[in-house]
Amino acid sequence: TLSRQAICQLPKAELHLHIEGTLEPQLALALAERNHIALPYASLEELRKQYAFTNLQSFLDLYYQLMGTLKTSEDFRDLMIAYLEHAHDDGVRHAEIFFDPQVHVHNGLDYNMVLDGLLAGMQYGRENFGITSSLILCIVRDMPVEDAHRILDLAAPRADELCGIGLDSAEVGYPPELFDEVFARARAMGLHVVAHAGEEGPSSYVEQALNILHVERIDHGVRAIDDAQVVQQCARDRIGMTSCPLSNRRLQVVDDISKLPLRALLEAGVPVSVHSDDPAYFGGYIADNYQALANIGFSAAELAQFAQHSIETSFIDEHERQTLL
Ligand code: HPA
Ligand code: ZN
Repeated sequence: TLSRQAICQLPKAELHLHIEGTLEPQLALALAERNHIALPYASLEELRKQYAFTNLQSFLDLYYQLMGTLKTSEDFRDLMIAYLEHAHDDGVRHAEIFFDPQVHVHNGLDYNMVLDGLLAGMQYGRENFGITSSLILCIVRDMPVEDAHRILDLAAPRADELCGIGLDSAEVGYPPELFDEVFARARAMGLHVVAHAGEEGPSSYVEQALNILHVERIDHGVRAIDDAQVVQQCARDRIGMTSCPLSNRRLQVVDDISKLPLRALLEAGVPVSVHSDDPAYFGGYIADNYQALANIGFSAAELAQFAQHSIETSFIDEHERQTLL
């Protein structure tokens, strides 16, 4: 199987990464102090004890709490630069990066300030690490649908500075169909379309994401395997599936990485790829996710297929794609 160095050298795209999920505990504490935000943790050691998650919600509670330490444009720029430097070390050539502006606006921040900070970091990454990147605005599915429309109102004037729209946060009880009009609006704005589905929710949520939201990629998609028709549709239409093994294990989506349906998806012809989700919370960046698969016996050829799928199902233009492959 592949060495760590060979894993890092595989040309790959990061397609499932929440920028807020790259906020390391040390940085959260430093930002809390700098921005005068009270956190209920007296020390790094005490904060670190909060990372023993039992499910998606137990993670989201901490994730949203620590997100409250991000206040200024520089905070977002610094967060982005730190991430892109790490991604570059792991051999990421291109990154399509989620952000959760509804949460930041609810925390009293200005949408344009957040966007400007992230874009400034991305420009730095392009100029200094040669890594291209774009942003996917994630709709927080457990906030009201009207709130999703309000964030699109704020995003619309600068829609050309975004790449796509996504759907994240607590899944069960918030099926994709709730957001059919939100996503139709985003598509009309020229945005690419993806959604988290089948992480904790059932395969019917994956089916809805495909046929009601018209997504081009499914994020996680673990439960797609329960419906052969959904798997076939993803294979036929080259719908990318962005798997995040370390996340799925830490959130107890599976009790062992070997129980993810990655081989079955590959054999069915689904362009599944490997990503890091929220690396500061789940114990590893993208190369660590590849490494975890190598450690349980995924072959060099299989790992290379994941990397190739990430480039195939990215939203870069055809010319750029050829230069990466
Ligand atoms: N699932 C749902 N929502 C999220 C995730 C995730 O893995 N990461 C950040 N928000
Ligand atoms: Zn995610």
